[in-house]
Amino acid sequence: MPPVIVAIDGPSGSGKSSVSKGVASRLGFEYLDTGAMYRAVTWWALENHIGTDEIAGRLDDCAIISGTDPAAPFVTVNAVDVSEAIRTPEVTAAVSRYSAVPQVRTMLVQMQREAAGNAGKGLVAEGRDLGTVVFPDANLKVYLTADVQARAERRAAENAERGHDADVTDTHQSLAARDAADSGRAVSPLQVAEDAVEVDATFMTLPEVIDHVAALVLEHS
Ligand code: DC
Repeated sequence: MPPVIVAIDGPSGSGKSSVSKGVASRLGFEYLDTGAMYRAVTWWALENHIGTDEIAGRLDDCAIISGTDPAAPFVTVNAVDVSEAIRTPEVTAAVSRYSAVPQVRTMLVQMQREAAGNAGKGLVAEGRDLGTVVFPDANLKVYLTADVQARAERRAAENAERGHDADVTDTHQSLAARDAADSGRAVSPLQVAEDAVEVDATFMTLPEVIDHVAALVLEHS
């Protein structure tokens, strides 16, 4: 049996990570955070002062590994664990620009498909273009969303836990800006796949969303 592929797309702060990890743990599937991969490339570019205009020719020097255990996800760049470093406001502010570079996307999409091929029982992958571009034949595509204010409150609380800026109004503005950049770019913009199931999590608790998506996976596999 080939692995069951579950593609979860949606805007920043919609709860994709918590939902995807929860569903993967529940079903014994692997988990892939593709946003973390774009953040890792961005972290590496910022560290090495590589601009978006020159990154395409430098990607051979950027070796990324993503851990796929939903209980202990991690990402490394050239063997350095950057799981925390990729969540800083600096990386967050720059990631939309670097993730719009076509060669960056080509490299990471290939890695994402390889992860799916090696996933054993199944893979829950989260991102922006998984149902539309990376896994057009996924068993289940979910478009997870929530009201922007609800997403801002959730992100601000996460930022506070990490000791970063936690102002809800600022977070609201930066989320709205990132939504616009991610949805408006030419290559693989954030959009709802034709055959995706839309889940609006504004008024749902995390366990409710996990139950709902896990039930959808069982229906579709
Ligand atoms: O999910 P996240 O906020 O960690 O994602 C970080 C950025 O990476 C987001 O602004 C858009 C980009 N991204 C992307 O372009 N394609 C994906 N499949 C996943 C993330």
